[in-house]
Amino acid sequence: MSKKNIALFASGAGSNAQKIIDHFRHHAFVSVGLIVCNKPDAGVTKIAATEGIELLLIDKAELQSSSFPSLLQEKGIDFIILAGFLLKIPASLVEAYPRRIINIHPALLPKYGGKGMYGHFVHEAVINAGEKESGITIHYVDEQYDHGATIFQATCAVLPADTPDLLAQKVHLLEHQHFATVIEELIAGK
Ligand code: GAR
Repeated sequence: MSKKNIALFASGAGSNAQKIIDHFRHHAFVSVGLIVCNKPDAGVTKIAATEGIELLLIDKAELQSSSFPSLLQEKGIDFIILAGFLLKIPASLVEAYPRRIINIHPALLPKYGGKGMYGHFVHEAVINAGEKESGITIHYVDEQYDHGATIFQATCAVLPADTPDLLAQKVHLLEHQHFATVIEELIAGK
């Protein structure tokens, strides 16, 4: 199998991006070739510098431009991994990378997804609704927020004493435990 090159898209601290980079360091058939970020001061930009991975800072207009998919293709990107990326992926990119864009969402979709549902907003909504369970969803990306086919879910309990911060910590643990291996299995099966 020829080596597959992934781009990590992230808008925040980048703890998932870091785990994925660590997992695929010296890997047989996957490498992380690019980090794409829309927030110049996001933690993930420092990870790119420390790891020596090319960083592409973009804004919404660049993401939506018709030349963006070919820019990624020219850079040899085979798969796009959204690791806390908060801009909507345009249809042009979905069409250029069919079933090759993967997102992680910090809840059990189809509940608690959609526009504005990210980070602590998700955990607040889960707790306010009195849910007994939350977790993570790894799914293919389509033109709608948090909507494409589910690849993997893992759950954790929501306890009466849980705050949004505590729940976020549990969910992050699940993300760090599973995201990279799910990506690896998915790429191995293509
Ligand atoms: C993760 O919990 C991810 O599930 C979430 O952003 C966080 C990024 O954390 N994504 C969304 O909410 C997308 N709707 P990180 O920057 O530490 O990896």
